[in-house]
Amino acid sequence: MKKILITGGAGFIGSHVVRLFVNNYPNYQIYNLDKLTYAGNLANLKDVEDKPNYHFIKADIVDGEQMQALFEDHQFDSVIHLAAESHVDRSIANPMEFIMANIVGTVNLLNAARHQWQGDFEGKRFYHISTDEVYGSLGHTGFFYETTPYDPHSPYSASKASSDHLVRAYHDTYNLPIVISNCSNNYGPNQFPEKLIPLIINNIRNEKPLPVYGKGLNVRDWLYVVDHARAIDVIFHQGGDGETYNIGGHNEWKNIDIVKLVCEIMDGKLGRADGTSEKLITFVKDRAGHDLRYAIDATKLQNELGWMPSLQFEEGIRKTIDWYLENQSWLDEVTSGNYLKYYEEQYQKR
Ligand code: NAD
Ligand code: DAU
Repeated sequence: MKKILITGGAGFIGSHVVRLFVNNYPNYQIYNLDKLTYAGNLANLKDVEDKPNYHFIKADIVDGEQMQALFEDHQFDSVIHLAAESHVDRSIANPMEFIMANIVGTVNLLNAARHQWQGDFEGKRFYHISTDEVYGSLGHTGFFYETTPYDPHSPYSASKASSDHLVRAYHDTYNLPIVISNCSNNYGPNQFPEKLIPLIINNIRNEKPLPVYGKGLNVRDWLYVVDHARAIDVIFHQGGDGETYNIGGHNEWKNIDIVKLVCEIMDGKLGRADGTSEKLITFVKDRAGHDLRYAIDATKLQNELGWMPSLQFEEGIRKTIDWYLENQSWLDEVTSGNYLKYYEEQYQKR
């Protein structure tokens, strides 16, 4: 009976990982630890909350003593660590929260695992979930490989790079059994509407301007969130000790093209005349230090562990839009209160 601690399980990607593990592995006990920041939402897990192998712990990974106590109480034998501050624009406005959650929080978990496992690493694993943003920015060609030198540009990506280095340092110094994956941009149900795709869907729904940074020419490599969760499952069970795996969608899009595609699909679904939503596109001041292009080479993961994305983007984006239109009360709930203040502060000055 494995006891797995999943941190950040109430967030976007974490909730899909928790669902997959709770449903696919009834013999594992899954502990979802989450602080429930603005991005954490237990409504994301309604369908699994009553399962006997699911447990929720409300806690802050920045509290090191609490992490040690939880490891002592529950004797976790694996960690899948997703909890983080995850939005680049917020990191530009308020870097310190990112340093605390992403760096200090990760070290607290590493220390708690190391202390609890006491050098007996049989059946133990610390899996750190990271991002392709640690590699910096590509020009118009080329890919990020696992060997690409780190070159982060935002406080968010620098804090994730720092946490990756610390996870590797605990492997090299203390033999802590770790594995890391670095994934490209995720999209899909339950993503908080501060990120590009759900923000655009929400604004089209409300007939509000669609803010596109700079000229909209930055390129991201988009992966459906359930495919990321599938990759995490494979790497958790089969990944090599101390290894790093890149995860990506082989699916590069310029921001402006994604926004236009979402406009076109939503006009159809909402019964609006073709071209209605495109008129809402508004070019705004660019993000500071905006990385031009991300593109992942995921050959290692495909060749060594047999993972490939299962969903084509055209299908994934339609499924995503359908989910948001069918779950408008979820959107209404998360965009009330503090979201409105955040939105005004972020976009008023652009
Ligand atoms: P998210 O912001 O949707 O969710 C983060 C979760 O972590 C929330 O539930 C939040 O409450 C929790 N959390 C934050 N600070 C915490 C703390 N101090 N203690 C406990 N819980 C805390 O993020 P996401 O998009 O689901 O990303 C999850 C992870 O995947 C992050 O580590 C992120 O860096 C990484 N990642 C994200 C993407 C992406 O495209 N979203 C791509 C690659 C990697
Ligand atoms: O690459 C993985 C990363 O992807 C993750 O590590 C991050 O947690 C996740 O937030 C995401 O980072 P990005 O900065 O790429 O995602 P975001 O959705 O914020 O922006 C995507 C692109 O769209 C980026 O080029 C900025 C642009 N953008 C974003 C917003 C919010 C706009 O043009 N307008 C907007 O309003």
